[in-house]
Order: sequence, then structure tokens, then C-alpha cells
Amino acid sequence: MVKLTPEMKEVFAKQKVFAAATASKNAIPNVAPVATVQLIADDTIWIGDNYMVKTLSNVKENPHMALYIWDPEKRRCFQIKGTVTVKTSGPEYEKIKAQIKEKGAHYPAKGLLILSIKEVFECTPGQNAGKKIE
Ligand SMILES: Cc1cc2nc3c(=O)[nH]c(=O)nc-3n(C[C@H](O)[C@H](O)[C@H](O)COP(=O)(O)O)c2cc1C
Repeated sequence: MVKLTPEMKEVFAKQKVFAAATASKNAIPNVAPVATVQLIADDTIWIGDNYMVKTLSNVKENPHMALYIWDPEKRRCFQIKGTVTVKTSGPEYEKIKAQIKEKGAHYPAKGLLILSIKEVFECTPGQNAGKKIE
């Protein structure tokens, strides 16, 4: 697995909504806004599943997910890629469920997507755009 650098973590912390890109096993792409997203370790991102439909069915048949993070002030952009494990029971799921329910009892908190970071690419416009960093 790949660890985010302090700079990447700074950019990550500024995001309010992430674009979660997945694909079906037939390679049909999908992108969805997600906000219940936290960096749980330098190489692991948790995403709360309240209302996912295609995202969930995609990661169940094809675990790959990509996100990008962008800091317009510092003009830094990173693409984060990895694989997802879905949890609907167990201590990790119970932890995110409690966090989500604290935000609002009406949220279904039906699952947890655990994204293990495998690669990071540069997406800041310029010479290094598209280059693999980690
Ligand atoms: C700003 C914003 C943040 C959202 N955050 C989440 C989230 O963290 N988890 C979730 O399950 N749905 C979230 N949603 C709702 C999903 O994006 C929505 O259910 C969407 O249909 C999921 O895409 P999919 O059907 O392609 O899986 C959010 C929607 C918006 C507009």
C-alpha cells in the first residue's frame, strides 16, 4: 500500500466533497459525490455508505476506485487510486455507523467502504501532470 505525504494529507483535509470514480465489471464508468470521507491511516480512506447504488454495485464486482483532491489556493492536485473492501458488520462498520448516526439519526449508515491506497498521481496542471508520484 502507498502512504499519503504530509502535503497530500494537507490537501485531503481541505476537501468537503470528493468525486468517487468506479467502474462496473464491463468497464462502464460512474462518478458520485461523497462527503463522509476520512483518512483513517496514511494509506487508508474510509467512506460512509448512506445512499450509494452504482458505486456500491461497482465496487462489489470491481474493487477499483479513484478520487482526486484539489487545493485551489496552493494549486496542488493529486489522484488517489486503490481498491475497496465493503463492510456491513464488525467493529469498523460499527464505528462509522455511530459517527454517521451522530450527524443525523435519519442517515441509513448501511455500509463502510475501506479504500486501500495503491497509487497516487499528480494532477496539478503543468509539466508533471499525470506522473505517478507514489
Ligand atoms: C455533496 C454530497 C455528498 C454526498 N455524500 C455521500 C456520502 O458520503 N455517502 C453516500 O452514501 N452518499 C453520499 N451522497 C449521495 C450520493 O452521491 C448519491 O446517493 C449518489 O446517487 C451515489 O451515486 P451512485 O448511485 O452512482 O452510487 C452525497 C451527495 C452529495 C450531493
